[in-house]
Amino acid sequence: MKAELLYEGKAKKVYRSTIDPNKLVLAYKNDATAFNGKKKDTYVGKGRLNNEISSLIFPYLHECGIESHFIQKLSDTEQLVHETKIVPLEVVVRNVATGSITKRLGFKEKTLFSPPLVELFYKNDRLEDPLINDDHALLLTDIRTQELREIKVKALEINTALREFFQSIQLLLVDFKLEFGRLPDGRIVLSDEISPDTCRLWDIETNQKMDKDVFRLGTGNLILVYEQILQRLEARV
Ligand code: C5P
Repeated sequence: MKAELLYEGKAKKVYRSTIDPNKLVLAYKNDATAFNGKKKDTYVGKGRLNNEISSLIFPYLHECGIESHFIQKLSDTEQLVHETKIVPLEVVVRNVATGSITKRLGFKEKTLFSPPLVELFYKNDRLEDPLINDDHALLLTDIRTQELREIKVKALEINTALREFFQSIQLLLVDFKLEFGRLPDGRIVLSDEISPDTCRLWDIETNQKMDKDVFRLGTGNLILVYEQILQRLEARV
């Protein structure tokens, strides 16, 4: 089903589908990276876990009326998606202060953001994904003012839907990163992945971190944690 390798990122490879050249195959890798690639490791099973988890999240979001590039899971590590041109923005939504915002702006760890905070980062490895404002985003990408507004509204809708989703498996959605892409017809839809690599998830009872922070901070076994999330999700559906 997959053929020409179009792009290899830190966590996924992107192929053009041999069956339908308008569609892409995303192959989730076992590599884990943090701090803009400065910390790296490989975890057997990570690609499968992120593929399984995101293949449950995207259909849930579709049910909530949120369109994305996702079509279907193809195999343990692969999913079929619509081809989009990725908008080079990382849209971060925060419900609770932790991570870069505590260092950058001095928010006290665990400060609640109500309403949730939306931040934009310029997706650029060379520049190490800097925080940018709306005017920068309009200059640095091909999106229009109205589209940027829609992206931010959509990010908050996704936050509402995902908070409920994760709450149903006893996890607090602390923050997460989204990417959007433009379909050939011009519409912008949710793209990339949503997984414990791109979300911070804290166990509601124990406060245990159940996401890539266990790798970033070296505080736990990434595979065990991701497996627990998948088990909880499978018990839910
Ligand atoms: O590091 P920071 O606190 O800004 O991360 C905010 C959220 O965005 C976290 O959930 C993190 O996992 C996610 N993120 C990501 N990819 C990046 C940067 C952040 O998925 N390149």
